[in-house]
Amino acid sequence: MSTSSRPVAHATPAWPNRQLIDLLKIEHPIILAPMAAFGSIELAAGVSKAGGLASIGAARAPLLAGEKIQQLRKRTTHPININFFCHTSPQIDAARQQRWRDRLTPYYRELGLDAPSGDAQAVAPPFDAAACAVVEATRPEVVSFHLGLPHPSLVERVKAVGCIVMASATTVDEALWLEQHGADVIIAQGYEAGGHRGIFLASDLNEEVTLQPGTMALVPQVVDAVRLPVVAAGGIADARGIAAAFALGAAGVQLGTAYLLCPEALTPPLHREAIRHASTNPTVITKVFSGRPARAIANRLTRETASAARDVPDFPLAPSALIPLQSESERRGSSEFSGHLCGQAAALAKEMPAEALTRELAMRTLAHFRHLASANRYTSA
Ligand SMILES: Cc1cc2nc3c(=O)[nH]c(=O)nc-3n(C[C@H](O)[C@H](O)[C@H](O)COP(=O)(O)O)c2cc1C
Repeated sequence: MSTSSRPVAHATPAWPNRQLIDLLKIEHPIILAPMAAFGSIELAAGVSKAGGLASIGAARAPLLAGEKIQQLRKRTTHPININFFCHTSPQIDAARQQRWRDRLTPYYRELGLDAPSGDAQAVAPPFDAAACAVVEATRPEVVSFHLGLPHPSLVERVKAVGCIVMASATTVDEALWLEQHGADVIIAQGYEAGGHRGIFLASDLNEEVTLQPGTMALVPQVVDAVRLPVVAAGGIADARGIAAAFALGAAGVQLGTAYLLCPEALTPPLHREAIRHASTNPTVITKVFSGRPARAIANRLTRETASAARDVPDFPLAPSALIPLQSESERRGSSEFSGHLCGQAAALAKEMPAEALTRELAMRTLAHFRHLASANRYTSA
């Protein structure tokens, strides 16, 4: 073997793009996706301990964000990301609510339940001045927004106390809009992603959500369009996906589904079971579970109401009429009406603690980069 082709003893492998690492002051550019109702302090602490960015989803109860931040502060000295939704408050449309209840009534009868009644209750208030005051008091290092950004005066207040603002874009136009309106980091959320689509610039959600790009196509276009660091999200659940995201120009990745089987996640047992069988349980984008498009495991409800998207009440009013049905069906051990949110890479999710999973993801990705670097050394020798 000639000296020119001998593998060189290499230094500690490094991330090829340090933009996000340096901005957020983290060791590995791996972000735990904020997952309201599914994340936990323990899950976030595990990711943080391994050097990734810990996130807390506060969309369900924005005013409790301060308590959660304090709980997590006791578990880590590293940066914390707190996440809010920025939807416009829903239109109360009594006729639509009635159409939706009528649509669900046969299922209620089938399970021996009284037909759904009463006005729908909103389950997730948008980020507002009161939630902003919580952020100002607790000063998390990062605040991330889904479904757009809040009013410019609120973005200004968040940034004035030193928080870095991240926000999700599902198209290049949304990424440019976020850059122009004060975001510091763009999360490019591809079509494969689990949970709610971050879509916010659509004139007709029902139509436009079906036209959205996947992660592989979206990330490089967003990287080319904006000057900010870009985080890839959607369908990334192992080191191969993370390495691919960096090859596309991403400065980091945000993973949700990959963490849903961690013991620290609050994923309910039937949801876990559905993910364990994800290779034969496809996912679908549907409005039926919340009123906004979200990716979840396809089931009887998503199939039988596929043509009813325009009858579903606006986000976040839709769950009210569904909850009794879901509770009874789940009590009987069935997922046929449940909203098991997850992304297209669910079959890659592993049942291991968050800290070990994050370390494994980072180490294996770095090994990929090392492998590529030594292959380059051979070819250029
Ligand atoms: C169960 C679940 C809940 C989610 N909840 C939120 C949330 O509260 N806020 C948010 O910004 N994104 C949320 N997301 C979307 C993630 O931020 C991210 O875009 C997505 O998980 C990436 O795709 P992946 O699931 O394939 O990793 C959620 C995703 C999942 C799977």
